Amino acid sequence: QELSLKLEMLEKGGYDHFMMKEIYEQPRSIRDCLRGRIYPGRGEVQLGGIKEYADKLRNVDRIIIVACGTSWHAGLVGEYLIEEFARVPVEVEYASEFRYRNPIITSKDLVIAISQSGETADTMAAIELAKERGATIFGICNVVGASIPRLTHAGVYTHAGPEIGVASTKAFTAQVSVLTLMAFYIAQQRGTITRNKSVEYLTELNEIPDLVERALKANDQVIAIAERFKDSPNCLFLGRGSSFPVALEGALKLKEISYIHAEGYPAAEMKHGPIALIDADMPVIFIATKNSSYEKVVSNIQEVKARGGHVIAIVSEGDTDVKEMAEYVIEIPQTSETFVPLLATIPLQLLAYHIAVMRGCNVDQPRNLAKSVTVE
Ligand code: G6P
Repeated sequence: QELSLKLEMLEKGGYDHFMMKEIYEQPRSIRDCLRGRIYPGRGEVQLGGIKEYADKLRNVDRIIIVACGTSWHAGLVGEYLIEEFARVPVEVEYASEFRYRNPIITSKDLVIAISQSGETADTMAAIELAKERGATIFGICNVVGASIPRLTHAGVYTHAGPEIGVASTKAFTAQVSVLTLMAFYIAQQRGTITRNKSVEYLTELNEIPDLVERALKANDQVIAIAERFKDSPNCLFLGRGSSFPVALEGALKLKEISYIHAEGYPAAEMKHGPIALIDADMPVIFIATKNSSYEKVVSNIQEVKARGGHVIAIVSEGDTDVKEMAEYVIEIPQTSETFVPLLATIPLQLLAYHIAVMRGCNVDQPRNLAKSVTVE
């Protein structure tokens, strides 16, 4: 028994849980995901897995992303990225809804299925349906040789390495990294981005693993926040733009492993419902980094404060305005709006982790959840 305990410790790389090990692996897993695929000096992305479809990408009318759970959140981030850079309309669908909806699909549609495990039953069924109706199907999977990569026409692996914790962490940031690469790749094929812009963005993307490393340094600050709010019955996560799916993902992490009721919302939608819940017991976590919607998020923060809510804000390094308003701030390194999801996710993963540990929850194997859902 002693031996098996030691083996387990070894597997967890010295961390108490797989989830923490996987959170800390992200600088490496994102680097592995980008390796051999970006050439910042030339402003080029190369994706061997889909290069046979380069011509097809020039002519697609629409991209439909299908996924479940955390992978669906990555898909939402992908929607912002692909529409912004490749200028193709994108729809993001829950695989379970898509498959039963008699969806309109043509041979000019590209379907991108995202799945960590590559075995999710609903996602597989969605792929089969879209394939029957003539769409081209790409996969974004983590597990090499799983069922989904075998069903798709082409695809790009995330290369995050095995993920054991049921709550997805490094697979999510790797999925977002692949979607970022795809957005630039499709943009290149369609001529919707200039070489100079590509050089600029890819140079920044290349530095993201180092910035993730820096974002992880907020761990002690996050522990203090976790201590303060670990007994809250509810928690709200708010963000705008591509930080909205990050808010959804932050809420999902917290509810999955700590069993605290948490919701993610677009910050502007707060006034259409969640604002009614805000009182002195409600922590509200804002993603308030310096970008195009900063001022608007600031006014949402003021609305929460005016109602006595507790504001915790993820801000860009050097921020002063939000710092004065929020009860707690967590700084992440400055980066373009495009790459914020990869950094803002990190403290939210840490927060869910520490709260769950403090509440005595089984972090790696939360109740009622499975790592891969192979039944409907
Ligand atoms: C389960 C897992 C989640 C995952 C979802 C989709 O619910 O617990 O972590 O996001 O399935 O799984 P997939 O393997 O398709 O990404």
